This record gives sequence, structure tokens and C-alpha cells, in this order.
Amino acid sequence: MRIVIKNGIVIDGFGGEEKADIFINYGIIKGIDKNIDVSDAIVIDAEGKYVLPGFVDMHTHLRQPGFEEKETIKTGTESAAAGGFTTVACMPNTNPPIDSEVVVEYVKAVAQREGVVKVLPIGAMTKGMKGEEITEMAKLKKAGVVALSDDGFPIMSAGIMKRVMTYGKMYDLLMITHCEDKTLSGEGVMNSGIIATMLGLKGIPREAEEVMLARNIILAKATGAKLHIAHVSTKGSVELIRRAKEEGVSITAEVTPHHLTLTDEAVYNYDTNTKVFPPLRTREDVEALIEGLKDGTIDAIATDHAPHTKDDKKVPYDMAPFGISGLETAFSVINTFLVQTGIITMKALVNYMSMNPARILGISNGIRVGATADIVIVNPHEEYTVDKEKFKSKGKNTPYHGMKLKGVVEYTIVEGQIRYQKNKKFEKVEI
Ligand code: DOR
Ligand code: ZN
Repeated sequence: MRIVIKNGIVIDGFGGEEKADIFINYGIIKGIDKNIDVSDAIVIDAEGKYVLPGFVDMHTHLRQPGFEEKETIKTGTESAAAGGFTTVACMPNTNPPIDSEVVVEYVKAVAQREGVVKVLPIGAMTKGMKGEEITEMAKLKKAGVVALSDDGFPIMSAGIMKRVMTYGKMYDLLMITHCEDKTLSGEGVMNSGIIATMLGLKGIPREAEEVMLARNIILAKATGAKLHIAHVSTKGSVELIRRAKEEGVSITAEVTPHHLTLTDEAVYNYDTNTKVFPPLRTREDVEALIEGLKDGTIDAIATDHAPHTKDDKKVPYDMAPFGISGLETAFSVINTFLVQTGIITMKALVNYMSMNPARILGISNGIRVGATADIVIVNPHEEYTVDKEKFKSKGKNTPYHGMKLKGVVEYTIVEGQIRYQKNKKFEKVEI
């Protein structure tokens, strides 16, 4: 497939921003210049639109194997493509979990066959994600995991986490930790505070995150492991990470679109689609998270796409599973609340959503001659109303349903193949 993208504003991810045409020749970016014309190429007119390096989501739950009623690798990657993502890293809390080479191979094979964006599996830190026996990391790494994580099942024993990090360091594997001390989060279902009290719901205190984060920072310092903090949600966590970075600890962090834009006030109507772990916090936390993003304390925006079925969520608030289906609203949420408001630039969005997550995962990204053509074209000004029924994801669990947002993904191009085009039905065919 040969494609020419004409007249778009190209943000290349390396600091450049200019109006230019891009020529993609069989998967590779062949030219970036004014007025490129080539014969027998598909021409995309991107006048008034941004042409960006594909988004990379370093925190996606694809649910396959084991929870195919919630999502599959096919529907999850279609959702990713619709959200402008060209690569997703998928969490190991499947059934069986991604804790052995066989499951890594399985995920890779299904992704190859049915996936429409690139899928990078994340392996489990302990067997069965039970927090007891560490996984065979050398084998997992050889099979192709890009990181190890305990997401959803945080390792409570400091001793075991230290062993995980010691081996992780030996195999140069990124350690992605979901920071939650279960003895502090207990039966909580939303942020501890006045709103939880008013609603009669059990709270999850900020300490549940911060205590575990502090522990993990101390262990990363002791072992030299590369630590990445999943879904940071509190002001105190931002301060801990900032301090750790100042001290030279090898640490990076991500924040989700929902933690950057919503607070526990969204829980007022007991909508279970606002139930997520970590919980939506307060305005003060949201402001600290944005500050952390702006000053480089937080490196990346990741969706924590956690699809659940309608039945899973159609229960009293206490009983519902945690999670938000986030891939298809991530760009428009960040564009609406942070870019269009002037809080961050589109260039910064590209750093948080495309370049930094790629760097942390150790993959290449960015628009330059000779690079793989992983590209997203967006219209930042088009407004739309979020309709969960239109999601490609099986997970319709979004707190943004019915909200007017700005910013629409027009095309997602993965390795030079158009994998998503707005308003077009799509079949996976290699050309
Ligand atoms: O909200 C969440 N959902 N947080 C997690 O840590 C796990 C995830 C899931 O797997 O549903
Ligand atoms: Zn998590």
C-alpha cells in the first residue's frame, strides 16, 4: 500500500511541527516534504488536521484468554485503532494469566491473526498472579514480554516484591506496579472522603496507594530495578515520584485520562461506570496530576482500558467490578480538557501519548524518513457526543457517555496499513 497524506500539520515527535505531506511506501515513511505527488498512491487530504505518531497505550486490558465476554484481542485492538493507538501493551490479568511462555505465545499468535494494531504482552510478576512464587522471567522475556506487572493483584509481601525486582533488574525488565496496599483499601469502592460518607459507600484512602508506592520506590532504589508506576491518582503520589526522580531513582509514571479530568463528584448518581481502581479522587488531586504531567514527574498518559460487560456493571455500586473502557475516548478527553483549554500543547500530548510510552517500553515511534509508518490523523476541532453503543470495544463502561467532547480520530495507520478510518466499516486485509 502506498499512501500520501497531504496538507496536514505534522508533529513528528522529535520537536518538529510543520505543514507537510508524507509519503508512505509499503509500511515505511519515504518522504516528508511540501507538495509530494506520487502515482498510484491512496491520497488522504489532511488539511486542517494533525498528523501525529501513533498513540501507544502502555496499559490495556484485552481480557483474552479467559474473559472473552468482556473483550477479545480482536475487539480490543479495533477499539485501540478507533482511538488512534497503533500499539497497546496488554496486562497479564487474564485467565490463565500471562505468566508463562505458552500464554505469551498465545496472545502474540491471536494478535497476529486477529489484531489490527500491534500488541505487546506484559508478563505477570508471580505465578498465577498470586503474589507468592516469581515467574520464570528469562523465559517470559525470550517469549517477548515488554514488561512485568502485578496490575489488579498487587504483591503484598515486600520480600517477594524485592525478589521480583532483583530478578527483573537482572533481565532488564520494566516493573510496572499497581500501587495498592490491600490492608488499607479493604472493601472500599470509591475515594475516602465527604462524598463517600454522604453516599454511604466505603472509602479507599489515598494512603492505600501512597504507602505501597513509597515501598516500591524504596525497593527500586535498593535493587536498581526500572520501576514504572501505573495509574497515579493522588497528590501525595505525585510528590513521592517527584522526590524519587530528584534522587535519581529509575522511575517513570503514567496517569489515566479519567484521573486527569474527573473527581469523586462523578460518583454522586451511583453510576457504576465511575467505579475504577484507583478511585476518582478530588479536584486538588486532579490539579496535582496535571502539574506532575507538566513538570515531567509523570511521563505518560495511559488508558487502563478495563472493559466489563453491561451485566457486570448493572449491580449495586459496592458489587460492581472496577474499570473504565477508555481507548476510544482517551484522545478526545485529553484534547478537550487539556489541549483546547491551553493547559498543554498538542506537541505535549504527542509526548505523553505517543513518544514517552514508546520510550518507556523500549520501542521506536515518531515520524521521520525511514521509520515505520505508525501514524494517527486527528481533527482537533470536531465536536461529537460520546455514544458508548458506537464503541468498537465490547466494554461500554464509560463515565463519558453523553458528554460533548472535541477531537476526532480520522485515520489510524499501522505499519503503513490503514487500520481505522472514520465512518468506514473495516475489514483486516493486507495490501
Ligand atoms: O479499574 C481497574 N480495572 N483497575 C485495575 O487495576 C484492574 C482493572 C481490571 O482489570 O478490570
Ligand atoms: Zn491497576
